[in-house]
Amino acid sequence: MTIATKCPVLVTGGAGYIGSHAVLALRDADWPVAVIDDLSTGFAFAVPEEVPFYRGDIADGVLLDQIFTEQGIGHGVGAIMHFAGSVVVPESVENPLRYYDNNTARSRALIEAAVHAGVPHFIFSSTAATYGVPDVEKVAEDTPQQPINPYGWSKLMTERMLADASAAHGFNYGALRYFNVAGADPDGRTGQSTAGATHLIKVACEAAMGKRESVAIFGTDYDTRDGTGVRDYIHVSDLADAHVRTLEALVEQPDRSLTMNCGYGRGFSVREVLDSIDRITGAGIVRREEQRRAGDPARLIADSSRLQETLDWTPRFADLDTIVRHALEWERRLANLREEA
Ligand SMILES: NC(=O)c1ccc[n+]([C@@H]2O[C@H](COP(=O)([O-])OP(=O)(O)OC[C@H]3O[C@@H](n4cnc5c(N)ncnc54)[C@H](O)[C@@H]3O)[C@@H](O)[C@H]2O)c1
Repeated sequence: MTIATKCPVLVTGGAGYIGSHAVLALRDADWPVAVIDDLSTGFAFAVPEEVPFYRGDIADGVLLDQIFTEQGIGHGVGAIMHFAGSVVVPESVENPLRYYDNNTARSRALIEAAVHAGVPHFIFSSTAATYGVPDVEKVAEDTPQQPINPYGWSKLMTERMLADASAAHGFNYGALRYFNVAGADPDGRTGQSTAGATHLIKVACEAAMGKRESVAIFGTDYDTRDGTGVRDYIHVSDLADAHVRTLEALVEQPDRSLTMNCGYGRGFSVREVLDSIDRITGAGIVRREEQRRAGDPARLIADSSRLQETLDWTPRFADLDTIVRHALEWERRLANLREEA
């Protein structure tokens, strides 16, 4: 694809963990980029200085009109990558209406603004949480979607809105269902910065750095190879690259929308993840064995063949120790950034 065919891309949530990696991947591939983010959980330092940054809400129609006008190079914003949202599953159980507001209602407002502005391509961050607790070895895109929490429902409803709006209004979209996202930019430009994160690799890196006393293992009696839960961890930079390639596919085939699982198709147990961190740091993280949490499946592994077959996507970091090493490097860098601030 030539630079001439690369339209400006608006990245919502571009100051957050995954969105900031997508911004880098788009820039590395010469796509013009702008970011909208309200900084509710994101960080301004995660957005490169040269990238136009609009601090505000994805449901703010006036701001969106301004962006669509200002970023108008020839035919205007050509694509939206929509990462902005609320992402903590237990919080969605405690405060479901907040999740239906931020993830569903505000996505509806964003999609409406995109339709009015005639934006032809839309890529949405969906999640494996839309599948609920699937009783299969590997989860394919046609595995029934039966969420078990408001977070999963809030995302599934947005997938539905996109499918219906796309059919009615003639844009195409990518719905990417991420499994467990982990790691950080290999060049140390961004990473996961959220305090109080709940993701295992992030939490374990914090423990290895002495920021937490121990790491809980929720459930040791699952029917898995070592009794702990197995998950499909995908490196965030491989995921960002999958977004860029999805965008290329949407531009090249404007009549086709794509729904794809994003994972590597193999899983690691909680103990294997902690072993990896111990191996790399020599730290010996303190492990606390706890009861299973309600709603945690024994294993959640993507059948990622559609992603591999549809896109020209070759993962570069599909190795647990590499993911962990990059996450650890970012955790150290983050500690320095916070000391300097
Ligand atoms: N992290 C994962 O493992 C994972 C897995 C599946 C799906 N996802 C999805 O990926 C997306 C990004 O997740 P993340 O882990 O980077 O989270 P994050 O919290 O780091 O990023 C979300 C960003 O969106 C911004 N934001 C939130 N609500 C906003 C609003 N109304 N208007 C403008 N900006 C807003 C936040 O400030 C933040 O910068 C989310 O939609 C999430 O549901 C993440």
